Amino acid sequence: MPRTALIAGNWKMNGLAGDLGFFGEVARAAADSPADILVCPPATLLALAAKTCSGTAISVGGQDCHARESGAHTGDVSAVMLRDAGADYVILGHSERRADHGESDAIVRSKAEAALAAGLIPIICVGETQAERESGQAETVVARQLAGSLPENPQKMELVIAYEPVWAIGTGLTASEADVAEIHAAIRKRLPDPLTTRILYGGSVKPANAESLLSLADVDGALVGGASLKASDFTSIIGAVGR
Ligand code: PGA
Repeated sequence: MPRTALIAGNWKMNGLAGDLGFFGEVARAAADSPADILVCPPATLLALAAKTCSGTAISVGGQDCHARESGAHTGDVSAVMLRDAGADYVILGHSERRADHGESDAIVRSKAEAALAAGLIPIICVGETQAERESGQAETVVARQLAGSLPENPQKMELVIAYEPVWAIGTGLTASEADVAEIHAAIRKRLPDPLTTRILYGGSVKPANAESLLSLADVDGALVGGASLKASDFTSIIGAVGR
């Protein structure tokens, strides 16, 4: 069964209520696309974005969640809360969370388990730093992150993996097609459900490189940061699927 592509936008710490017109601009491209379309706005906009997107082909998701359902965790948001606000997905273990908040693989795993329990599809991010790539460690690092971050519960579960080389995020640099293909194949063979699990590429995906990246074997979509903030760029990335 072919995997449905997923084009996911990660707004990071960007977006105010005045920016919700974005969804109207993207709705047509989403409706016409063979891909699943997802936007992960900041938590403050999630419920509003979900309401704005209801009846469209755009899903919304969170950018992180806490591993617990509720409790004394000031400032945190649980997977159940994201679900309650209308999220279908949640990004977990993004390299900015791993670096800025010291998130270990074990933490990412517990968040992924909480997400699945809440009925969310986790998008688990992995990726090597520049130093790790230069020392020939890219595949080892990604394999280690994957082994440590994937949920342990053995039942069939839908999750998505995003390969995002840290040095390619927000830098304008992208991994070479050969490197992307190599790492994606390495990820695929380590997945509990390799045939159905989608593997996204992320790291400076933009209209100019989307088509070639998305045409690679084992690339089932893209996780888009900067270029997901502008409706026209995001729309043209959506249009690159299956071209
Ligand atoms: P970028 O970010 O597209 O701005 O490089 C990707 C990401 O961090 O998910």
